[in-house]
Amino acid sequence: MSRDAAAGETPYMAGGGAPCPEPGSTALRLTGSTHVTSLVQRLQVRESTSAKNLTTPGPTDDELAEVMRAAVAVPEHGAIRPWRFLMVREAGQRRLSEVFVDDLLAVDPEASETEIAKRRDGPLRSPLLIVVAVSPRAHPKVPEIEQVVAGGLSAFVIQSCFHDMGYGAVWVTGQPSYSERVKTALGLAPTDHIIGFVHVGTRGPGASASPPKKRPEPSDYIVEWTGS
Ligand SMILES: Cc1cc2nc3c(=O)[nH]c(=O)nc-3n(C[C@H](O)[C@H](O)[C@H](O)COP(=O)(O)O)c2cc1C
Repeated sequence: MSRDAAAGETPYMAGGGAPCPEPGSTALRLTGSTHVTSLVQRLQVRESTSAKNLTTPGPTDDELAEVMRAAVAVPEHGAIRPWRFLMVREAGQRRLSEVFVDDLLAVDPEASETEIAKRRDGPLRSPLLIVVAVSPRAHPKVPEIEQVVAGGLSAFVIQSCFHDMGYGAVWVTGQPSYSERVKTALGLAPTDHIIGFVHVGTRGPGASASPPKKRPEPSDYIVEWTGS
């Protein structure tokens, strides 16, 4: 019996069991096998939802707040808190769409109408777009790569939590992620990193029709290193 079950607590059953307990409650601590099994199973079936299959409504403010509490609970070296999260909705998305097109035309003045339309459509494809960025700080023990990794973990947690809540989400990058013009428009420094644009929304009919993804065989990537 898990420690929480022994204590008479309700374990957190992600994706359709008992209601999620209050943040900070003992039931949220992953101390019992029930929780671990649940987390492992949920991660095994996590998947992205193509932005073209995302529709309204987006998450509520309360749901978003819950997810962001998880996003800042990722492992992170040195308590630098290098991540930045920009919530982009509606007017913000329309403005970002213009920025994306301006950036494309600055890089490629000959861009085709199709390319322009695709770039314009990018930020508009979901009710909520979360820009996950990292503002690295010089630190004697924490190289920049570790701070970028922390931002990546946050992006993963955000996407996975929304999946767990029944929403769809996808993490995309592309040329705008690396554009100084886009960073500046978003209020970021040129030295900041855009880790990704995480689209979030309700899974549309196209998403529901997709069969579960076939995943790689873990043993293809695992070796036992014995040192000999
Ligand atoms: C850092 C990063 C950047 C990505 N950028 C893109 C992208 O620009 N376009 C895209 O289609 N998928 C991108 N992906 C991949 C998708 O987010 C997704 O993982 C992929 O489509 C596989 O789907 P799955 O998550 O269900 O396995 C990116 C993933 C990561 C981690």
